[in-house]
Amino acid sequence: MSDIYEVVVIGGGPGGYVCAIRSAQLGFKTACIESRGTLGGTCLNVGCIPSKSLLNLSENYFKAKKDFSSIGIETGNISLNLPKMMKAKEKSVTILTKGIEFLFKKNKIDYIKGRASIGSNNEIIVKNNNSQKTYKAKNIVICTGSKPTSLPNIKIDEKNIVSSTGALSFSKVPKELVIIGGGYIGLEMGSVWKRLGSNVTVIEFLDHIVPGMDQDISNEFLKILKKQGINFKLNSKVTGVKAIKEQVIVNYINNKTSTNEKIQADKVLVAVGRKANTEDLNLSKISIKTDKQSRIQVDKKFQTSIKNIYAIGDVIKGPMLAHKAEDEGIAVAEIIAGQSGHVNYDTIPGVIYTSPEVATVGKTEQELIKANIKYKVGKFPFIANSRAKVINETDGFVKIIADAKTDKVLGVHMIGPHVGDMIAEMALAMEFGASAEDIARTCHAHPTYSEAIKEAALAVDKRPIHT
Ligand code: NAI
Repeated sequence: MSDIYEVVVIGGGPGGYVCAIRSAQLGFKTACIESRGTLGGTCLNVGCIPSKSLLNLSENYFKAKKDFSSIGIETGNISLNLPKMMKAKEKSVTILTKGIEFLFKKNKIDYIKGRASIGSNNEIIVKNNNSQKTYKAKNIVICTGSKPTSLPNIKIDEKNIVSSTGALSFSKVPKELVIIGGGYIGLEMGSVWKRLGSNVTVIEFLDHIVPGMDQDISNEFLKILKKQGINFKLNSKVTGVKAIKEQVIVNYINNKTSTNEKIQADKVLVAVGRKANTEDLNLSKISIKTDKQSRIQVDKKFQTSIKNIYAIGDVIKGPMLAHKAEDEGIAVAEIIAGQSGHVNYDTIPGVIYTSPEVATVGKTEQELIKANIKYKVGKFPFIANSRAKVINETDGFVKIIADAKTDKVLGVHMIGPHVGDMIAEMALAMEFGASAEDIARTCHAHPTYSEAIKEAALAVDKRPIHT
């Protein structure tokens, strides 16, 4: 037994490293344990950051190839150097993971490398290669994140049948890429490889993509992605895959006709969700309760069934989003310090970084109908926004949903250029309990994409200016 910490954070992803920094800011002697070898978790190493890098790089390539000549930029023959593009992606990842190490040093946080399991209420056992050490902690925060799931008959080999991790590092552009699942990962990675030259087919179990999103967005998004050349097999349940030499056959059932169908691909991406990383933590031995999906059960203060052990991020319920985990990381550190840290789950934005982007916060129309809440809707298309027109990015719209009686904004759903950044204004407005009228009366700079927000807010009261 050696060091005694006030807070030990298990997991160095966005939830864990932010929690460690906030804990140190609050004066706690803090350590963060991470087994990956680099900080930043899935998000920085094999998730948000490398995928956003590839989305940006592939879009640049695609635009240079398809659009430049039509706007007077003559470049000659444009070709893809995939290894160089991958190096650029890796550089972004390294800069950011090293940045967290710097922040740890600055905040005097001990970065412990190795795999942690919980020994008792106050003890954490860390294994690294052949060595093992036990650390003592007054408070333990579990932020071990999540990993990709697969389907019962499909084994991911990260070669021809890959998870998002493998799809971030193909050594050459697959000719035929089949993606199982029309959610966040499937559509972002599908966009990357479509732009780089793959023929992409998305097989989705439901009759629509991005389940849980407002249906207007889901319908428009599908229309736009189809226009970009991505193929969709909706209402189709994948039942298995078979690898034959360098090819993979994907078998699926058409839910409507109950017929068996198949499709052949060079690579198959399985993107059917993620599951909590709770397996190696020794939770059952110390009686920490988990639910049917192996997520740790916590109360409103992120406390597990053991008082001084907390859990946040993808290992507990809620959307598996880095920024949700970060906010919980800050909240739990403040709660440990006796403050009143909290997270407002009604205003957590979701963004899909395709082109155009999709961004959403608050309730969807379908959720409001189900809850029997009366509402009004204002919509404004980007085709009527001057900035979008000038830049020739006119697909999509802004949709604001407000309470029928009070005009309070209940949800905002956008698809269009830069909406991933614009959603912050809407999350802030909702945090402050804004009405659609408040937004309509806020001056928005001209010419900006954000004027579409003001117009949608005006449209809630049926008085938009530019449509
Ligand atoms: P997801 O839950 O977003 O989508 C999975 C899709 O697979 C669903 O549409 C589902 O209906 C479909 N599916 C399930 N079984 C199927 C079957 N047998 N055949 C065909 N389709 C089937 O999961 P995804 O895309 O893997 O993402 C995992 C998590 O990662 C999400 O919770 C998301 O929040 C997070 N993420 C967030 C990103 C962002 O914030 N931009 C980017 C990437 C991931």
